[in-house]
Amino acid sequence: MLKITDLVKRYGSGEPVLKNLDLTVEGETVVSVIGSSGAGKSTLLRCINRLVEPTSGSIVLNGAELTKLRGRELRMARRRIGMVFQSFNLVDRLTVMENVMSGRLGYLSTWAAVSRRYPKEDIRRAFELMERVGIAHYADNRADGLSGGERQRVGVVRALMQQPEILLADEPTASLDPKTSEQIMQLLRDLAGELKLPVLINIHNVTEAKQYTDRIVGMRYGRIIFDDAPAALTEDAMEAIYSGSPAADRAGAGLKEAS
Ligand SMILES: Nc1ncnc2c1ncn2[C@@H]1O[C@H](COP(=O)(O)OP(=O)(O)OP(=O)(O)O)[C@@H](O)[C@H]1O
Ligand SMILES: [Mg+2]
Repeated sequence: MLKITDLVKRYGSGEPVLKNLDLTVEGETVVSVIGSSGAGKSTLLRCINRLVEPTSGSIVLNGAELTKLRGRELRMARRRIGMVFQSFNLVDRLTVMENVMSGRLGYLSTWAAVSRRYPKEDIRRAFELMERVGIAHYADNRADGLSGGERQRVGVVRALMQQPEILLADEPTASLDPKTSEQIMQLLRDLAGELKLPVLINIHNVTEAKQYTDRIVGMRYGRIIFDDAPAALTEDAMEAIYSGSPAADRAGAGLKEAS
């Protein structure tokens, strides 16, 4: 379970971009986070995996507080959090297999990592996952020869090789064509169920968010103003999430508070 309480993030001395967020995600729920550009969606995901430092508040993953960790403890915690990126973040000149195995780096000794001596069990698992997402026949191909959809499958497998306790995806389909995008959303949804993983997906495509996720969190200027089942995302709710200005928001407008 992921439990975020009173999370604040301020970059520099400006106004906070995350304003006292509370969010709990349990079990194999697939949650989409929607909201205008600048609402704070990426900042929220980056606070969870500590690519950015939260200013205050608490983020607890399966009982462990993530916000206070440093050094080795932080590295250990990070491997429990799988991350999938819009631009895939593969190493182009490496093979699919090498990219996938880089998901194990957090678990290997330095020697095993630099010499690429992966345990048999890791290799077996890699093939199992590559089979599952349909890229096993590309194992020895260079990553830069693959299509976008295939590259994102590599990104997903790499994240799963970490044996994560949660999967975070920041606009995982934004660089893909509509059909491929739907396939990747379906894959994330299926994997959440199969691996009993909670998945948090930042997404601009509201139609896909409604179709492929269990719950929608709507952010506006650093606040969560909607948090409900897709069916509850009415026109009014959409209006509240996507309209307005930071000034209006500071004046107290907000669906959650109003309801
Ligand atoms: N490293 C940073 N330093 C300073 N400000 C930042 C930094 N990263 C993000 N911000 C600011 O924080 C706010 C939220 O940005 P964030 O990237 O989290 O939004 P987002 O909802 O992911 O937007 P998008 O839909 O465009 O990806 C924006 O105003 C942005 O300019
Ligand atoms: Mg973003």
